[in-house]
Amino acid sequence: MRISQHLFTWHCLLSKSTRTHAFGTPHSHFDSNSRRFLSSTGGTEKSLENKEFSTEYHAPVMWKECIDSLLNCERSQARTDDSDDSDREPLIFIDGTLGGGGHSAALLQKLNAGDIVFGCDVDSEALETASNRLGKYMDHDGKELPFFIPVQSNFGELDSTVTEAKHPVTQQTIVGEGVDGILLDLGVSSHQIDTAERGFAFMKDGPLDMRMGQNAMSGLTAADICNEFDQMELQKIFSKYSDEPRAKTVAKAIVSNRPLSTTRELVDAIGTVTPTYAKQKRKGLTATCARVFQSLRIVVNAEDKVLDRVLSIVCPTLIRQGGRLVVMSYHSMEDRATKRIMRDGTVERRKNIDQRDIYGNYAGPPKPFKPVGKRQKARNEEVEENPRARSAVLRVAERLDS
Ligand SMILES: C[S@@+](CC[C@H](N)C(=O)[O-])C[C@H]1O[C@@H](n2cnc3c(N)ncnc32)[C@H](O)[C@@H]1O
Repeated sequence: MRISQHLFTWHCLLSKSTRTHAFGTPHSHFDSNSRRFLSSTGGTEKSLENKEFSTEYHAPVMWKECIDSLLNCERSQARTDDSDDSDREPLIFIDGTLGGGGHSAALLQKLNAGDIVFGCDVDSEALETASNRLGKYMDHDGKELPFFIPVQSNFGELDSTVTEAKHPVTQQTIVGEGVDGILLDLGVSSHQIDTAERGFAFMKDGPLDMRMGQNAMSGLTAADICNEFDQMELQKIFSKYSDEPRAKTVAKAIVSNRPLSTTRELVDAIGTVTPTYAKQKRKGLTATCARVFQSLRIVVNAEDKVLDRVLSIVCPTLIRQGGRLVVMSYHSMEDRATKRIMRDGTVERRKNIDQRDIYGNYAGPPKPFKPVGKRQKARNEEVEENPRARSAVLRVAERLDS
């Protein structure tokens, strides 16, 4: 059996079990109006809270924790129940990683008439799916419902794209005074991984693409990197972006097996130097492919550079004082940058930037954020229902006086 065939069989078993867990029984479907899973007989299934905003496209991770954190922003807390909706200045939020719209749907359900959620994604398919789902929030007069405004943009460019957006009714600029919160649920959606043609999954055969949107920030596809970078460059990428312990060996195998144009060819190239099963699981084929694919995806989409920009420039520029930055990371590079910006005001290592006066007090530039609470992980029940939640780390910060 070829190595790639082995992985496909493994994936089929895995996806069968995770689908049942994450999306209900094969005979159920999601009813977006009632936000409940309906069985084929039409009755409401026992609806687990975590699944409430899940669709076949994607199951939003820690949605309740994310939405509560956004809504704990200063202006939302200052709202009083007895004031009329028409008296209220709208709250404005940005979902910077719209995906299937699960988090946006949960947020919109909690907001008042006239409030605004921008849903941003680089992927036009995600925007189309989420816009269909959230259509009822798009075309109305704002007297009964909040607004959903889709924006096709890289989140690294939101400081220019979102500021140009006009109010659907008044046609005036919306973001003059800043926004009340930005949510970033990093990485790729389940739908992107499940779509073989996108080339994100090592368990599915497809072109070596991995671009999140039509125009990748690097201008490269994964095939360009595998076929054109020299061995040393590949080795550096695998070490830097996924701590691959056998980066040199894997890079050499890729160079000797090129040209590579499909995910299966890449898996087979890695398989020439990697055992299907290893004593140490992390040295086996599945774990090695996961790391190699992750590092290629990061380079194709310039994820490190874009994340640095959104955290250190876009968010401090757009979030108003007392507003919230809510970030969910899925690997250590993302979480490290998030932690540093929230704690130190920069994505640089603390050692490089710490400035103290002679008394040991901080004397560097003002920090834009203060962390709110500790990092959070998904609860066990959620991880059982949605294995993707296992690696998620949620961090929250509040925008300080600018
Ligand atoms: C984990 S999914 C978000 C899922 C979403 N929270 C939901 O509930 O369905 C991440 C999404 O962010 C998008 N994305 C990743 N990097 C991006 C970037 N730099 N700019 C804009 N969107 C990005 C991906 O295309 C993907 O749709």
